[in-house]
Amino acid sequence: MESTLDPHTALAMLEWQIDLGATEAIGETPVNRYETPKKQPKLEVKEEASVPSAPQAVDAGEAARKLAEAAESLDDLKAAIAGFELCELKKGARSLVFSDGVPGARVMVIGEAPGRDEDREGRPFVGRAGQLLDAMFGAIGHGRNDDAQPIYITNVMPWRPPQNREPTPDEIAMMLPFLERHVALAKPDVLVLMGNVSCQAVLGKKGITRLRGNWVEALGKPVLPMFHPAYLLRSPAAKREAWADLLSLQARLRS
Ligand code: URA
Repeated sequence: MESTLDPHTALAMLEWQIDLGATEAIGETPVNRYETPKKQPKLEVKEEASVPSAPQAVDAGEAARKLAEAAESLDDLKAAIAGFELCELKKGARSLVFSDGVPGARVMVIGEAPGRDEDREGRPFVGRAGQLLDAMFGAIGHGRNDDAQPIYITNVMPWRPPQNREPTPDEIAMMLPFLERHVALAKPDVLVLMGNVSCQAVLGKKGITRLRGNWVEALGKPVLPMFHPAYLLRSPAAKREAWADLLSLQARLRS
């Protein structure tokens, strides 16, 4: 039977089944795997009709830039992203994950993209990587809801990519105007880039092992690239470098 579901809905329903504990996919009718396969019907490829005055494809990056520039507050920006329909990731996600922590905090942390926990809760960094992130900043006296030394947290992508795959360069470029405006409106003193995806978005390059711990300037702010907490969970030995970077951040904030 042919499915009438679009791929995003089908994927969301499948993930929901997995969340409920399903571990096997069993069809409604038995399959005889010894049967000789029938010949596949040939696919007919029709020539595309040439349309002389076809409407111009919408430039998604340009559309995002216009919407982002029009936003005069973080609430405006969140609403603009919520209404942006040109990024495919939105269709497969449950929530828009915009930010957490205190807007206006001196430190703005930029992660990669929401995972399953973040997609469920609608807040960035709430899963295991998020708990480590909280512990890391806690170790230098900062917290996402700390009254004295708060931090503000967002991601390059506001929607969860399917199967937690990395956002593609096109998706990153499309959503970059929103991130740039986010930084301008949140007005942090410094940016902390967690991992390669945020380095790709903000600095235009990857190579976190080389980039981490070196302060650079981008989006008009001092920027510190660091190992992503998810990487630190997989490679605990790298926590030594992460600790050095946190101390460097602390020194910068005190100077
Ligand atoms: N990893 C990220 O980069 N961001 C999140 O919000 C969660 C995990």
